Amino acid sequence: MTPLQAATHADPYAYYARLRRHDELMFDADLGLWIASRADTVEAVLAHPDCRVRPPHEPVPKAIAQGAAGQVFARLMRMNEGPAHRCPRAAIEPALAAVDAPLVADVMASLIDGVDDLEALMFSVPVSVIAALLGFQAQQLASVAALTRDFVACLSPLSSEAQLLESDAGASQLRRMFSGLLAETALLAQIREGDWQDADRLTANLIGLLSQTCEASAGLIGNSLVMLARQPELIDRVQRTPALVMALVEEVARYDSPVQNTRRFVAARCTIGNRVLEVGDTVLVLLASANRDSAANPSPDSFLLERAQRRLFSFGSGRHQCPGQRLALTIASQALLALLHRQPALLAGACRFSYWPSLNGRIPRFHKLVPTQ
Ligand code: HEM
Repeated sequence: MTPLQAATHADPYAYYARLRRHDELMFDADLGLWIASRADTVEAVLAHPDCRVRPPHEPVPKAIAQGAAGQVFARLMRMNEGPAHRCPRAAIEPALAAVDAPLVADVMASLIDGVDDLEALMFSVPVSVIAALLGFQAQQLASVAALTRDFVACLSPLSSEAQLLESDAGASQLRRMFSGLLAETALLAQIREGDWQDADRLTANLIGLLSQTCEASAGLIGNSLVMLARQPELIDRVQRTPALVMALVEEVARYDSPVQNTRRFVAARCTIGNRVLEVGDTVLVLLASANRDSAANPSPDSFLLERAQRRLFSFGSGRHQCPGQRLALTIASQALLALLHRQPALLAGACRFSYWPSLNGRIPRFHKLVPTQ
């Protein structure tokens, strides 16, 4: 197994435990990557000012640099450091934190009856919730979710030429739809108050909220469904005590992270622990492994709803730590509760799955049961 194959391997956790025996960054010569697997090393890399989110010589991946997807990518706070990161973040972080659970529950209630399979619950519902909170009308939500899924293809090195073209089309269409937004919701109004310099940067980062939501939330909901199928007693516990659902999704995020790794690119010679990193080096940061480090979470390989001071690396750490963490956990919790109350028959579909191809996302792809003759 390699650290990249681990993301979609059936059980990568014993492998990660072996990597964590190295108490320093380890160099994988085949991949040409430094590997951070322990919680303290992961934290140190993500906190280091010279470990950046993009390679300095390639702020936008070459494959998309010329099109609409590249124009959006270039302006995302997730893909920038310095003011192009700090200014959007200053507006977006408090605005996302202010969205409360009852509002999400209302939007979820309006969506759940239209869900007819687990893939829709995972990919379409979370993005639709964010789109509704930003002011899109009910009849626009399905196409916003589909266009977002097209756009996120530009973020994966595994995407084909055809997917990259669709990604451009998705970015262009989403920009048009944002410029035609009629409603000014509380979330959008608060975000607009930020120091946006120009409308393109604002629109790109609104598209960024949809794209950051898409695959990560699909993974969190999907991995929660896998856990419910493996441990059906959890279904009874959540049905009897719905407030437990938040602990359930948090523990799934820790135990089987939807985002298994992220990367950092070294912009100036620097030292992490005893290792010296050179300009141009890349570090693969194994978030899913850090979650299972006993120094961060005692009894890390036990799935425990009641876990005191759970430490989650699944949402990153440091200056780029996910500003949508609480909202993402709320959306996943509400999606599961809505499924259990309104569509429990769909749960049966969570038994057979593989994983969507990815180098960093762990998103189950559920297989429909084919009726036998
Ligand atoms: C289960 C769902 C989610 C997971 C696991 C997740 C995970 C992450 C991670 C790991 C990062 C940091 C990446 C890095 O430092 O390299 C991140 C950043 C980010 N996430 Fe999330 N995320 C989720 C949902 C959301 C949602 C719902 C939103 C917004 C509505 C969101 C918005 C963002 C943004 C804007 C950033 C960039 C932050 C920055 O660069 O400062 N995420 N997310």
